[in-house]
Amino acid sequence: MAKIVITGGEPLNGEVQISGAKNAVLPILAATLLADGPISIGNVPHLHDVTTTMELLGAMGVQLMVDEKLTITADPRFITSTVAPYELVKTMRASILVLGPLLARFGHAEVSLPGGCAIGSRPVEQHIRGLQALGAEVTVENGFIKARAERLRGGRYVFDMITVTGTENVLMAAALAKGTTVLENCAQEPEVVDLANCLIAMGAHIEGAGSNRIVVHGVDRLAGIHYDVLPDRIEAGTFLVAGAMTGGKVTVRRARADTMDAILVKLEESGAHINTRDDMIEVDMRGRRPKAVNLTTAPYPAFPTDMQAQFAALNTVAEGVGVITETIFENRFMHLNELQRLGADIRVEGNTAIIRGVERMTGAPIMATDLRASASLVLAGLVAHGETVVDRIYHIDRGYENIEEKLGTLGAKIRRLPG
Ligand code: EPU
Repeated sequence: MAKIVITGGEPLNGEVQISGAKNAVLPILAATLLADGPISIGNVPHLHDVTTTMELLGAMGVQLMVDEKLTITADPRFITSTVAPYELVKTMRASILVLGPLLARFGHAEVSLPGGCAIGSRPVEQHIRGLQALGAEVTVENGFIKARAERLRGGRYVFDMITVTGTENVLMAAALAKGTTVLENCAQEPEVVDLANCLIAMGAHIEGAGSNRIVVHGVDRLAGIHYDVLPDRIEAGTFLVAGAMTGGKVTVRRARADTMDAILVKLEESGAHINTRDDMIEVDMRGRRPKAVNLTTAPYPAFPTDMQAQFAALNTVAEGVGVITETIFENRFMHLNELQRLGADIRVEGNTAIIRGVERMTGAPIMATDLRASASLVLAGLVAHGETVVDRIYHIDRGYENIEEKLGTLGAKIRRLPG
């Protein structure tokens, strides 16, 4: 299995360009199923999850083309199947995002029920209940969600809890339903807004995306268009943390600071100077050691669970004690045991991690368990003295485009050992 080897201890300095957002491009790719013409998508990040989604769409008969700039054109007019098989869904839970579009556009869908995953149990009953509120008949048989509806009709659904892909799935279905749908307690993440903007460009009538109440006036058809994906706030945040915890100065370009308030506030609390201008964000730690930060993960606009592991890494070498509480996923602390192998001082009590910063960590072999955990281990490797070898690094390729190249341009001593 491929590994990443890092020799830590040097501050990072320089500029890096941010890619399109993984969690925006995945629902947008699923939304191409709704169109009655080809959709082209720009600013697509080169990620393993994008390839998996293309494989899934391709298996259904969507015709896909990719040009040299990685613009993807998806033509859904000649679909041959409305099934998302277990083999693909088990490798990527976001495959559930095809359920709403397939049902709305073709009247039926069979999507393998995603199982648990490394960070928690991650059920999808909200996706199912939301679609039922639009008139779908849904059964779960032989490990598949089987959904049917002649034509979905507008309805009202109040989500029991805030769910990002749940909101996206029901939003996409409602876009082609007959009549008006009102969704309450919606996720407000920028990626939900990006999907809504793409649907609006396709001809959907959507109000309120980005608030907790979304109103959709269903239309009869959605058209082929071009859409450029939003920059990835989690990738940008990860590079900014890398700059801050190494005491360096890092600028991210093609980023959207307006989607990153909670992250930038925590970076400031850690003692970093932050500058934002147009599409760039600069973090400058001026050679100092960061201060430990306290944070609690919660749905947007609060602090994102997808940045928790990276700030845990920052706290391991910070001055003082940082308390991190994870409220979204029940098992998203797996990186902490690995950070301890580098010398971190961490105590876990339930969903809270109390991290006392140490002055020096030392390199060791460690193992990635999921996407954001692997990012946190790579960050820790940048500050640990000596060599850190991160195994099972394939997790990082699901969500970070060329991470070792980008960190390399910032001066990190990092290389990949092929498996
Ligand atoms: N939940 C339920 N029932 C449901 C749906 C969700 O109980 O029907 C619970 C989950 O178990 C969890 C909470 O609700 O405790 C929130 O989960 P959510 O549904 O919002 O997560 P998701 O949509 O599966 C997306 C991102 C994740 C990100 C979370 C939270 C995509 C493709 N994935 O997942 O991204 O952590 O929202 O912000 O958008 C990542 O990029 O590393 C990643 C895991």
